Amino acid sequence: MADFENLQLANDKGVLTITINRAEKLNALNIATIEELREAFQDIYDNNEVKSVILTGAGEKAFVAGADISEISELNEMNGRKFSENGQEVFEMIEKCHKPVLAAVNGFALGGGCELAMACHMRIATPNAKFGQPEVNLGIIPGYGGTQRLTQLIGKGKALELMMTADFIGAEEAKSLGLVNHIAESHEELMTLANSILSKINSKAPLAIGMVIDSVNGYYTGEENGYQTEANSFAACCKSEDFKEGTKAFLEKRAAEFKGE
Ligand code: COA
Repeated sequence: MADFENLQLANDKGVLTITINRAEKLNALNIATIEELREAFQDIYDNNEVKSVILTGAGEKAFVAGADISEISELNEMNGRKFSENGQEVFEMIEKCHKPVLAAVNGFALGGGCELAMACHMRIATPNAKFGQPEVNLGIIPGYGGTQRLTQLIGKGKALELMMTADFIGAEEAKSLGLVNHIAESHEELMTLANSILSKINSKAPLAIGMVIDSVNGYYTGEENGYQTEANSFAACCKSEDFKEGTKAFLEKRAAEFKGE
């Protein structure tokens, strides 16, 4: 995979950790970082060495404190639309990735940072994590899918409250709302937990994992019938070698060896 300026990548037994590395700006997402994420995920889609992904932020203070406000301040109506659509496209690549992507949130996840975490398939957090969509403080709204994904994840009433008050919520409240799956005591424990969740998933049938992601996404896609996506995906699993291996291994009382075929 290419060398990046704002991302650090480390692959440990198929779990790729991507660390957003602009700690002096609280890992704010400038356009260059968004494009690096696009490039990284283009590779992840096809790279057999990568089975799953952890996204996290450098330092102890922030996951990502938002889109880079110094770049946002220059936007006008025309390039503002492009800015939003471009970020939506990259975050959709993350959401639709057939390999599980987990956000390990170690501090502020604000604006585009909260939106990035929500584009991931799961979120876990440290106790100092703070989530929020404070865009209305700047005279804008969430533009990287936040109005949609926050509503999907925590429901309309609370999502509207958070987006209109610009309030931040802590890890416990985020967990009680379903925004976060687990809380770990420290950044180190967060990474251990992230690795253990993904190692477990990596031992399952890879094609089936991708089909679970597609079918769940089908629930939220207007032009798709989620039940139909599920039935089509189920049928596709039934013709896979992994299905033969998984059922055979169960009947032979041994662990399955999946090949992703
Ligand atoms: N864009 C660009 N720079 C950012 C940033 C962002 N979203 N968030 C933080 N930074 C920069 C600060 O400007 C500062 O840079 P400097 O040292 O060159 O002045 C550095 O990161 C540290 O941030 P600072 O504000 O000094 O830290 P803090 O602990 O006092 O406050 C926050 C932390 C997160 C509360 C505060 O930085 C903040 O409100 N950030 C913006 C959050 C936001 O509105 N995000 C949505 C954007 S759409």
